[in-house]
Amino acid sequence: MKLCTMYRVLIGLTCLVFLSAQSGIAKEAESIDELVAMFDESKCAQCHEQIYNEWQHSWHSKAIISSLGGMRNFIAVGVAKEWNAKLTKAEVLKCLDCHAPTVNYASEKLAVEIGEMIVTAFDKKGTPEGDKAKSELSRLSVGCLGCHNVKATSVARGLRGAPVAGAIYGPNGNDSDGHESIETVDLSRSVFCMQCHGVYKAPDGETIKCNTLSGSYQNTYMNLGGSETCQDCHMKKGHLFPGGHDLETVAEGLGFNVEITSYRHLPGKVYGVKDSTKWVPSVVINAFVENKTGHRIPDG
Ligand code: HEC
Ligand code: HEC
Ligand code: HEC
Ligand code: HEC
Ligand code: HEC
Repeated sequence: MKLCTMYRVLIGLTCLVFLSAQSGIAKEAESIDELVAMFDESKCAQCHEQIYNEWQHSWHSKAIISSLGGMRNFIAVGVAKEWNAKLTKAEVLKCLDCHAPTVNYASEKLAVEIGEMIVTAFDKKGTPEGDKAKSELSRLSVGCLGCHNVKATSVARGLRGAPVAGAIYGPNGNDSDGHESIETVDLSRSVFCMQCHGVYKAPDGETIKCNTLSGSYQNTYMNLGGSETCQDCHMKKGHLFPGGHDLETVAEGLGFNVEITSYRHLPGKVYGVKDSTKWVPSVVINAFVENKTGHRIPDG
């Protein structure tokens, strides 16, 4: 081999090594066990017990199994019947990029299996096969690393590149024995949440949205001078992320102003009612309901 070629091969090699260190998780998982191990949130519980418990009680930790019916219809009716298309990873990600973002790191085969499990879990509910599929799927959701790694850099992918494998992106960049931390302001901004609480643009150009909330946040709330971020309002209780399923939060979002005017009225002669000539005490109630959230409610 000529020296010059060898030199090039060497450069190529260094380049490859450097790239794989920088471009994060190069590996694709072939099974759910492998995928869960790559992004295991139970490891985080050792040191962040309270946050872990809050997260477990949040809707983020149930983001596939609470939406099984809708996803089953997309896969079994939409993809299979309406478009007569084959189930692929790209189709599965049209739902799971937001409902379980770590599935981006599943192999093509595993992603399709996960899609099929969604159909099994729903159609065979109550049978051992259906229950097994559901319990496997419950291990996938919007987990710690879904936010603190996978989605942490995608607000500005062009600028920030892919997330570094194993690193934790956080608001302060405090390192620990548990992990390397990388400071990012993105996580504290509304755009971070809007990636999922907004529109998904699939590589094939299709756009999908479950919710219209980010649009109204931007166009109505921000444009009228609203200054609070999603995090300001929804992370007051840490990682519980209360929303429309939490009565206290719903009450917080509603302003009431009630005007009451009392009067008496005389119904006059009413057929069949004997004593209809008496004055009846009456009241007019005008209730004004105000939306104090940062967006339209309910969402959808
Ligand atoms: C852009 C990100 C995104 C994509 C893509 C997406 N979703 Fe959602 N989905 C959400 C968010 C965020 C919510 C919660 C909205 C809320 O509570 O206001 C949600 C809620 C839902 C719900 C209601 C869950 C409940 O508890 O009431 C269903 C069902 C659902 N999605 C199904 C789907 C299906 C099926 C697909 C694929 C075709 C899909 N989603 C794709 C972000 C997304
Ligand atoms: C839906 C996205 C999301 C999920 C899921 C999530 N986090 Fe966070 N986390 C955030 C955001 C956003 C912040 C920054 C909040 C801010 O800027 O005030 C944060 C902040 C933190 C912080 C630093 C501030 C603090 O509260 O101490 C820690 C530690 C943390 N998260 C750990 C975890 C762990 C552990 C899990 C899983 C059990 C988890 N997070 C799941 C979005 C998420
Ligand atoms: C061995 C203990 C340990 C483990 C395991 C651990 N952490 Fe941490 N983590 C810490 C300590 C200590 C800090 C720094 C103090 C702080 O900010 O709370 C920290 C900080 C953080 C922060 C804030 C970073 C910032 O910007 O300052 C986030 C987010 C976080 N951890 C998430 C996670 C997630 C997600 C996991 C699981 C994948 C995890 N941690 C596992 C100990 C641990
Ligand atoms: C990776 C995508 C993703 C990110 C990032 C994300 N969410 Fe979510 N969020 C979801 C999905 C999906 C659901 C619906 C889960 C379900 O219904 O099971 C949800 C549910 C919620 C809910 C509960 C809604 C209800 O009906 O009670 C709130 C509140 C919420 N998210 C706020 C936030 C905020 C604030 C941020 C930013 C700090 C954020 N989310 C970031 C995907 C995401
Ligand atoms: C000024 C405070 C405030 C801001 C800013 C805000 N929210 Fe909300 N949000 C609320 C309150 C209060 C509710 C509960 C009202 C209800 O659902 O009836 C709510 C409800 C929700 C729900 C549940 C909707 C449903 O139909 O059940 C989601 C999801 C949500 N917010 C996400 C977000 C996201 C994402 C952002 C940023 C783009 C954001 N919020 C900004 C206060 C706020």
